[in-house]
Amino acid sequence: MTKAKKPEDLRSHRWLGVNDLRSFGHRARLRQGGFDGPDWTGKPVIGIINTWSDINFCHTHLRARAEDVKRGVIQAGGFPLELPAMSLSEPFVKPSTMLYRNLLAMETEELLRSHPIDGAVLLGGCDKTTPGLIMGAISMGIPAIFVPAGPQLRGNWHGQTLGSGSDAWKYWDEKRAGRISQEQWEEIEGGIARTFGTCMVMGTAATMMAAAEALGFSLPGAAAIPAADSAHPRLAANSGRRIVDMVWEDLTPQKILSKKAFDNAIRVHMAMGGSTNAIIHLVAMARRAGIAVDMNRFDELSREIPVIANVRPSGDYLMEDFYYAGGTRALMAELRGVLDLDCITVNGKTIGENIEGAEVYKREVIHTLDDPVSRDGATAVLIGNLAPQGCVIKPSAAEKRLHKHRGKVIAFEDYNEMAREVVREDLDVTADHILVLKNGGPKGGPGMPEWGMLPIPTKLLKQGVKDMIRISDARMSGTSYGACILHVAPESFIGGPLAFVQTGDEIEIDVPARKIHLHVSDAEMAKRKAAWKQPAPKYPRGYGALYLEHIGQADIGCDFDFLGPLGAIPEPEIH
Ligand code: FES
Repeated sequence: MTKAKKPEDLRSHRWLGVNDLRSFGHRARLRQGGFDGPDWTGKPVIGIINTWSDINFCHTHLRARAEDVKRGVIQAGGFPLELPAMSLSEPFVKPSTMLYRNLLAMETEELLRSHPIDGAVLLGGCDKTTPGLIMGAISMGIPAIFVPAGPQLRGNWHGQTLGSGSDAWKYWDEKRAGRISQEQWEEIEGGIARTFGTCMVMGTAATMMAAAEALGFSLPGAAAIPAADSAHPRLAANSGRRIVDMVWEDLTPQKILSKKAFDNAIRVHMAMGGSTNAIIHLVAMARRAGIAVDMNRFDELSREIPVIANVRPSGDYLMEDFYYAGGTRALMAELRGVLDLDCITVNGKTIGENIEGAEVYKREVIHTLDDPVSRDGATAVLIGNLAPQGCVIKPSAAEKRLHKHRGKVIAFEDYNEMAREVVREDLDVTADHILVLKNGGPKGGPGMPEWGMLPIPTKLLKQGVKDMIRISDARMSGTSYGACILHVAPESFIGGPLAFVQTGDEIEIDVPARKIHLHVSDAEMAKRKAAWKQPAPKYPRGYGALYLEHIGQADIGCDFDFLGPLGAIPEPEIH
């Protein structure tokens, strides 16, 4: 290790290392906590930002993992302090955790800035926690390492494997179609989430944990380790040891992140068949780092990189199988020829060094680039008069016949109207119709809830219809599937073209040509626009009001305008 810093250079030295009245107060308070000089003198203070909470079962184990991190920090000569941050439990937080991702990012940044912290270990994994924690750490700029919570073990029901989300939608449709009983439905409820850890399909959690590793923000192989595997506490302790050295080396996020590192993360996302949500998060993370990455880059790389991870919803297996097949290192080794191998990572080594010797142990789970799971790509960005700033679809999770389609619209003004209508047995709908949902965007939702996988109308389900085109300015869970066109920008709430779509209009989709077109004349659109009234904002005060005032659209990652890569913020004065 090359030491770039001396103890007097540490941030924490200003709080603890000087001999004045203020530092007397700081040290006296540490002694109040039972610590003593040898705990902190000349040592980096490591902040463990922990998103554990009693209502986030993806993070149940993070309370224990924080202790493992502390063990590692102490072994390496650091002084660990745990700082709790909001947990963003995906299933429970309403209207959407996305409303609060930026709040977690702000909390992370300010926790690190306002305390005597020299380096950070970030504990998270449930969907928005990964980008929230990393965005905050990037903006703060001190050395930071991300410890992913890791996926749950496989779900189980009557000997069948159950996957988070995907199988909930599947069996809910079966129940609505009368093919499974209430009793069976309740059994599934008890078997679909058997252990702590994140969703174990290739949802947003698994995608973002892999993207973080590919960016260089986690130790090699970290992303796929199941939460319940004993390798996971070892990862936590190892990350604790490593962050201490990172502080001495002054290995900051700015030295790790680059355009090439983001390209690596996008390529890994594509190869994994990752969640469409990753587009929003990676764009926002890059923006924090002052690196230009836009939606088009995802489309470009999606054309080059097929899906090679055979994991649901694009494939057949789950993250536990993916780990046994070799995990992220093995997947990245398959991508060796297309990744930038020189990018540096948190362990001080390059991506190329980190994947050396990695092997695929189960070919049915991790395919080769020559024999992929799907050549359709994990993400396509469509542009057209309905979405001038773009919208996205996951071709690998949609029925192929819908990649080129023209159909009549059934439009819903909001989620409640949609929920009422799709269960009507007399709804005038066919499998060729296109369902359109408005007011599900960043401001309209608000928080861009995961409403984008609109339910197939009950009438069609009974006819055996499994997929149809659905369009919205909302997001969809990475555990979802189907021909869902998402993130339409600009959104309907602010008067984007989606706001003026009416039942009976026709929309044409051409995924290979990356086009989306609303067949309504410009004159008619202008007439509809003149008659349009913006819905009332849902939050007149509080955080929601701040959010509505500052949130950006999907194409710039839904970050707040004031959190971008602005000038440096002064270090707090100690007096
Ligand atoms: Fe936490 Fe899916 S609910 S990762």
